[in-house]
Amino acid sequence: MSPIQNISMGRGGEEHDAADTTMADNIGHRFAGKVAIVTGAASGIGRATAQRLALEGAVVAGLDIDEDGLDQTVRLIDEARAERAAGGTGGTGGRAVAYRCDVTSEESVGSAVAAVAADLGTPSVLCNIAGIGGFFHTVDMPLERWQEIIGVNLTGPFLMCRATLPYLLEQGGAIVNIASNTGLTGQAYTAAYCSSKAGVLMLSKALAAEYAGKGVRVNTVAPGPTDTPIIASFDLPEGADGRQLYKMMTPMGYATPAEMAASIAFLASDDSPFTTGAVLSVDGGLSV
Ligand SMILES: NC(=O)c1ccc[n+]([C@@H]2O[C@H](COP(=O)([O-])OP(=O)(O)OC[C@H]3O[C@@H](n4cnc5c(N)ncnc54)[C@H](O)[C@@H]3O)[C@@H](O)[C@H]2O)c1
Repeated sequence: MSPIQNISMGRGGEEHDAADTTMADNIGHRFAGKVAIVTGAASGIGRATAQRLALEGAVVAGLDIDEDGLDQTVRLIDEARAERAAGGTGGTGGRAVAYRCDVTSEESVGSAVAAVAADLGTPSVLCNIAGIGGFFHTVDMPLERWQEIIGVNLTGPFLMCRATLPYLLEQGGAIVNIASNTGLTGQAYTAAYCSSKAGVLMLSKALAAEYAGKGVRVNTVAPGPTDTPIIASFDLPEGADGRQLYKMMTPMGYATPAEMAASIAFLASDDSPFTTGAVLSVDGGLSV
């Protein structure tokens, strides 16, 4: 029965109960039997997401240009699995496999995604997390840097979505793209970064609209400041007014990569079956 008398809500009653039961049953092993592709998996939020998805049972394909970082991610996931097996603490979780991939290259993306499907099986989750940034006075910003930032942060997710969607459409799936709260609010000295993040947010919405009803959900996480190596690449240019950046700060400080990964995992999982085209701000209240 619908929760509102005499109004058909499309779903309700027993169907809602069944959905809730499925969610409760899935906690802790939401990605068992799934193949998940995570870009940017060599560091920061991407690594934490690979760890979280593997902990919950996924076979994770970690994609990055940083092969040493990827090896470290795979090692951390292997060690965690061995520890859980030794401690007899329930499921041992999934594993991770490293694939060198430059998300700005059509060829690199095409061959990495094809290799993942051939090696690990049909992917049903894609998390586009690879990203770069930097502070510039816009009048001094070289075109090459603009193109590089747009290339990794916006063209990369497009290429990854285009290559992975045919697989997701086979058996259903979820895409989570990583934007930034600065892609919602704007921020001084980061015209390319903010533009790329606003762009990826709209890429998600456009794909969500295009594939709604076809079994593929597409959502965005917009992180606030998170304690990862990317922060070091945001050095203020000479003569910049630091007060412009006060609005980046929140009384809650920095998030941990694992906190960000928890929200990404939620949107990638069957715990959010009716959520598509959404933007989840995980920013310690910055957007309030
Ligand atoms: N850390 C923050 O405060 C913060 C805030 C908002 C949004 N974000 C976003 O979160 C995402 C992850 O960032 P992070 O903080 O974990 O940074 P990070 O620097 O730790 O990780 C970024 C990863 O992307 C990889 N990468 C860069 N270029 C690539 C390419 N061409 N192909 C494949 N991989 C490439 C890097 O090698 C690195 O492993 C980024 O999209 C970033 O913009 C971060």
